[in-house]
Formats: sequence, C-alpha cells, structure tokens
Amino acid sequence: MGGDFFWGVARQLSSCYLADFYFRPIPNHLTIMFKSNLLENQTALVTGGGSGIGFAIARQLLQSGCRVIISSRKEERLQAATVQLSAFGAVRYVVCDTREPEQVEQLAQSIRSTEKQLDILVNNAGGQFPSPAEGISFKGWNAVVNNNLNGTFYVTQILAKHFFIPQNSGKVINIIANMFRGFPGMAHTGAARAGVDNLTKTLAVEWSKYNIQLNAIAPGIIKSTGLEQYPPEFLQGVEETIPAKRLGTVDEVAWLALFLSSPMANYITGETIYVDGGQRLWGDLWKM
Ligand SMILES: NC(=O)c1ccc[n+]([C@@H]2O[C@H](COP(=O)([O-])OP(=O)(O)OC[C@H]3O[C@@H](n4cnc5c(N)ncnc54)[C@H](OP(=O)(O)O)[C@@H]3O)[C@@H](O)[C@H]2O)c1
Repeated sequence: MGGDFFWGVARQLSSCYLADFYFRPIPNHLTIMFKSNLLENQTALVTGGGSGIGFAIARQLLQSGCRVIISSRKEERLQAATVQLSAFGAVRYVVCDTREPEQVEQLAQSIRSTEKQLDILVNNAGGQFPSPAEGISFKGWNAVVNNNLNGTFYVTQILAKHFFIPQNSGKVINIIANMFRGFPGMAHTGAARAGVDNLTKTLAVEWSKYNIQLNAIAPGIIKSTGLEQYPPEFLQGVEETIPAKRLGTVDEVAWLALFLSSPMANYITGETIYVDGGQRLWGDLWKM
C-alpha cells in the first residue's frame, strides 16, 4: 500500500516534469551553442586584452556579437590591438593598471559613460617571473601578489559594485594558472593564483544571491606572448612532459572563456577548469 502510494506520487511528479520539459517554449539562446549573435547586446571587459590570451578572448567575444572593452597599462599595445580587433566588432580600450584601485574606479566610470550595463568580466591581466623561492626578493613577491591577487580583487569588487550587484546579473572569469600540485619555480604566482582560485569559490557562494556566476580557467603552458619573458632553456623540451605532447593555443583558452561567458554556463559557478593537455595530472614540468 505504502509502495503504491510512493510510485503514484513519483509518476505524477515525473509527468509534471516531462510536460514542463516538452511543452515549455525553448528560450532562443539555448537552441544552439555559439551562434554569431550569442552575446548580442552584451558588454564585456577583458583586462590584459591587448595581447596573448586576453586578445584571443576579446576576439571570441566580439565574434559572438558582444561589445568589448580591453584594458591594460600600455596604451600603444592597446591601440594596436583595438585596430586589429575592430575587424570583429565594437571594441574600445581604456588604460588601467589593475593594481591601482583609483584607476579601476575610473575604468568603471568610463564603462558607465558608454554602456547601460556590464555583463562579463574577464580578469586576465597578470604576470610573473621564474625564480627559486629563496631567490625571490620581498619586492618581487609583493609585485606578483599585488598584480595577480590584489588586482583581481580590486577589479572584481569595484565592477561588481558598479554593475553586477545593482543589475542582479554578471559573469566573472578569472584566468589563473596550473597550480594543482603547487607551483615549483614560481612560488609567488602559485600562492597568488591559489588565492584567486579560493576567492572564486567564496564569491560564487556569497554573490549567488545577486545572480553572479564566477569561474576560473587554469591554463597550462600556452603558446602566447606571455612566454616571451621566460629564458628559452626554461621551457626546452617541456612538450614531452605534457600528456598531450604539445603546448596549448590561446584559442583553446578563449573557447572555454566564451562558453563560461555564455548562458550555457548559467548553472556553473565556483569552478576552476584546467586547459592544460593533462599536465596537472602527470610528469615533472621543468627541471628544478
Ligand atoms: N601563457 C601561458 O602559458 C599562461 C599560463 C598560465 C597563466 N597565464 C596567465 O594568463 C594571463 C595572460 O597571459 P599571456 O600569456 O597572454 O601573457 P601576456 O601577453 O603577457 O598578457 C598579460 C596581459 O596583462 C596585462 N597586464 C599585466 N599586468 C597588468 C596590470 N597591472 N594592469 C593591467 N594590465 C596588466 C599586460 O598588458 P600591459 O603590459 O599593457 O599592462 C598583458 O596584456 C596572465 O595572467 C598569465 O599570467 C598564462
């Protein structure tokens, strides 16, 4: 008797869900992934968007119909990137050092002057240098932590207060690094990126009430402008240590950033996704 009652209720519930599934109109943006107007009427900010991974992300967003603002410290680099990116859509630049909260505040005001809202923030600006931990000066340590951890927090909090929280929507994508097993050879950035990884989880929960989704992407070794600052011997033979036997491309990072920016990722938050050809799982990256 109890069993019959249980199955009766279960059947009723499942038929409701099935009816909902079959007869509810399908929102247009969910019928197909990655159509050219997927992000139409949306605006994104990509920090460090004038080069490498940030540039590739800006291009993907533009190609999906998004308006894009790129920012970084060097105006010349931003100008050249804006000219190239204009071929793909509406883009402009703002000079801003993410380590300076006052400059980030001005960046937010500049975005407000042309945009009704901001939908997507890609925290991509960052950098580091290789060194054994005992050789890192406190100045060097602070510079890297300030750039990669503090800067990310300043930008995220300031833009959330200007846009995401009042508008009750937003997507934040933090570009970090593969520090799954620590980061031997770059202790400063490992610590800073682990901080951003944790911040992503915390804010995903705290800001879920504002309908803000935050996720992180941890690239492995990506063929990008960022690699130019490492001595060639540092990366010699590194492909052999990666299960995929090759470095990643900037587009392979940008495709994931596009997915996480899209409505397809509305139910994903607080995640860190590795784009590393399996590198985090196996092998010694470089000789210590
Ligand atoms: N390539 C890789 O293998 C790899 C792997 C893991 C993680 N990452 C991370 O992914 C991001 C992009 O790397 P990438 O390889 O494309 O290197 P990249 O070309 O050097 O990109 C870094 C960008 O950040 C900007 N930037 C740096 N510090 C800034 C600051 N304080 N304020 C504003 N902008 C700043 C730089 O522009 P300005 O100099 O004009 O400010 C530059 O456009 C970085 O955070 C990098 O650490 C890269």
